This record gives sequence, C-alpha cells and structure tokens, in this order.
Amino acid sequence: MRWTDTHCHLNHPELYAEWSAVLFRAQQSGLYRLFVIGYDLESSRRGVQLAEQSDALYAAVGIHPHDAVQCTRETLMELRELARSPRVAAIGEIGLDFYRDLSPREAQYQAFHAQMQLAAELGLPVVIHCREAYEELLDVLSEYPAVRGVLHCFAGSAEQAQRGLALGYFLGIGGVITFKSAESLRAIVRTMPRDRLLLETDAPYLAPHPYRGERNEPAYLPLIAQRVAELWGIALNALSEQTEANVRTLFTRLSD
Ligand code: NI
Repeated sequence: MRWTDTHCHLNHPELYAEWSAVLFRAQQSGLYRLFVIGYDLESSRRGVQLAEQSDALYAAVGIHPHDAVQCTRETLMELRELARSPRVAAIGEIGLDFYRDLSPREAQYQAFHAQMQLAAELGLPVVIHCREAYEELLDVLSEYPAVRGVLHCFAGSAEQAQRGLALGYFLGIGGVITFKSAESLRAIVRTMPRDRLLLETDAPYLAPHPYRGERNEPAYLPLIAQRVAELWGIALNALSEQTEANVRTLFTRLSD
C-alpha cells in the first residue's frame, strides 16, 4: 500500500534537524510521497531545498495568514521564483485565520488575494489554512473559479464543507479525525464524495490518537487512514488506491 502525506512540515524547526530520519520512519510505515508545506519565506525556501534533495518530497510555497504582513512585493517575487522549481506542486499554506489574528485582517486579505492570483497565474493548486473564517474564506475562493485546492485540516460545518466541495476543493483530513470530540467531522467524512478526500498529518502538529499532544510525525499517517477506512467501511488498500488517485487529480505537477 502506498500513502501520501499531503501536508507536513519537515521544514519546521521541530523536524528539520532530523528530517532524513523522519522521512526514513515515514517510508518504513508505507509513505512514499510527502508534501512539505511552507508557511513563511524561510520555510518555503527550506521546503524547496528538501524537495530538490529527495524524490519522495514535494514542496508548497506560501505565506501563512499569521505572517501576512511579511507578504510584500519582494516576497511575492521570490515565491514566484521558487515556484519555478519542478519540485513545487502547490502554493500554500495561505488563507485566513480570525482565531489567532496574528496579522491584521486587512493584511491577511491582501496576502491571500495576492497568492491566489499567483496560483492562478502559475496554474498551481492551493493549500488553504482557515480558522474561524470559513464564510469569508469561501467568498474569496469563489472569486478564483480557475483555481483548485485543498481545505487543509478541515474544521468547518457540514454546510461549509458542501460549499467548498461545490467550488471544486478537496478536504484535508488529519489527526483530528481520531479525536473523541470530532464526531461532527466524522459525520462529514462519512458522507462526503470519496474522490475529494486527502490524507495529511500536519506534523509536527496535531498528532493522532494515541499520540495526541506529542510531536507528530508523517509516520503516523496510517493511523488516520485506518480511521477513514473504518468510517467508509472499506479495506485499507481500497482507501490507499482512492486517496492516491485523489492526490494525482489535484496535484498535476507530480513527476512520479
Ligand atoms: Ni500546516
């Protein structure tokens, strides 16, 4: 069985120092492809460097809403330059975060729009981060009908999931699906279209049960897959085939 972790941060200080050991453990647990997602300029550069060193790694480059004030004209030029690498498969993570509000909302909107335009121009999909801003976020996504992407670590309502799916987006499902409290998310996943789900860990964050609260690793992805397979009542290898097909549908720049 083959798995892809569509969202992890080997470029994050908590994993970067031992990224090759983390990658090795992931491969031991059945992963053959990992997406290293940028969240600021430095992590985006690092992600591209990693992806250029290993065939198993692809990168996404982008500025997280927390760092939206960093998204200047110069930053955008460098992101565009980085995205020329054939190892860059997406723009992200980008979006809106009205929960922590670490950047002023106006700056968040500006950075989000600029990077949606970049994705449209480059013909790349987007990796979306959203917290407590789903309605506002979906309004922005609807302004870019040519762009597709994934709602990473989806945590919205059933109605918001419907709206995202109708816009052509995928739902990124991670460790939260294994948490006791996640009954409403499980209800959404149970009935969602199977060709729109992507598996992810968001490592080093959001470790699945029974590692909740510890440092997360891509090697834990099969625990998330197991839970989704149970919800759908299908075998793990059927889930592997479905989710691998989904990865290929969205991320058209993959070379393997
Ligand atoms: Ni992330």
